[in-house]
Amino acid sequence: MIKILVTGSNGQLGCEFKKLASHVEDISFTFASSADLDITQPDQVEAALNGQDYHYLINCAAYTAVDKAETERIKAFATNSEALNHIGQKCRYHNTRVIHISTDYVYDGKAWKPYTEDASSLPESYYGQTKLLGEKKLVEHQPDTIILRTSWLYSSFGNNFVKTMLKLGNQREELRVVFDQLGSPTYAEDLANAVITMLQKINTGRVKFTPGIYNYSNEGVTSWYDFAVNILQQAHSTCRVLPISSKEYPTAAPRPYYSVMDKTKIKKQFKITIPHWQASLEKCLAVLLHEEIES
Ligand SMILES: NC(=O)c1ccc[n+]([C@@H]2O[C@H](COP(=O)([O-])OP(=O)(O)OC[C@H]3O[C@@H](n4cnc5c(N)ncnc54)[C@H](OP(=O)(O)O)[C@@H]3O)[C@@H](O)[C@H]2O)c1
Repeated sequence: MIKILVTGSNGQLGCEFKKLASHVEDISFTFASSADLDITQPDQVEAALNGQDYHYLINCAAYTAVDKAETERIKAFATNSEALNHIGQKCRYHNTRVIHISTDYVYDGKAWKPYTEDASSLPESYYGQTKLLGEKKLVEHQPDTIILRTSWLYSSFGNNFVKTMLKLGNQREELRVVFDQLGSPTYAEDLANAVITMLQKINTGRVKFTPGIYNYSNEGVTSWYDFAVNILQQAHSTCRVLPISSKEYPTAAPRPYYSVMDKTKIKKQFKITIPHWQASLEKCLAVLLHEEIES
């Protein structure tokens, strides 16, 4: 039996792990929300790990308000950077491997071909800087760490672009969405599933635990505009979506124009297949639209 502690368990990704946990027999999950375990507090991290013999800690906890991070710097730094110091130290001490979730925002966003994990990372936003520093601190203290960089995460849980588009699509006749930022959406259920599959394969010796940085998103590439069009079409919304440029939609934190990631490494190393973003969007919308009918 694999013993796992999941931090930040009330977030989008944490909730997906909770949803899947009941279908997985060979893993025993413990879920800790921010109220149960504040990762910025070393004594709380120690208390959570002590005597539990967890094989893995999956860190889904993060400060994720990208624009607010530009001004709430202390909190963003404490959660995304500093906390990874003691998570790393204490996991090393307790012999617990770490699966840490990071972001495409660590890349500079100016490339013209998909980012491989060894591409130079020069994050433009403060959020991206804190996440990159957190990755480095974690690995420094706990080399037995897998870092998964993901992008454009959405889920039927929490707040995200898909849910915002559905809501606005119901309220407005017209929406303006940027067409010049390209990336790959990630259904959080797919990411949670991929992590579970990887750990099961490691546990049964089918693949090796190979620490390092890995990119993970759904397959395919789109713009926020095309993503929005797809969402509203599938929801049979009559709301029109108009393409606008990033210059017409200024944000506090700069957004990458290009954040497509090359996923060859994770697919090869852990022998996983990744669904296309359109198929995954369809799955998530089926859940959300069903919930809408029920309510
Ligand atoms: N969302 C995206 O588009 C995206 C894209 C790329 C990468 N990522 C990364 O993917 C991971 C998961 O993201 P997500 O979308 O699931 O995030 P999320 O929905 O914002 O959830 C983050 C969770 O972390 C918790 N948290 C915040 N500060 C904490 C602390 N000090 N101690 C313990 N828990 C704390 C939050 O709890 P409270 O709500 O109680 O504060 C929340 O439940 C994060 O590492 C994020 O950086 C996200």
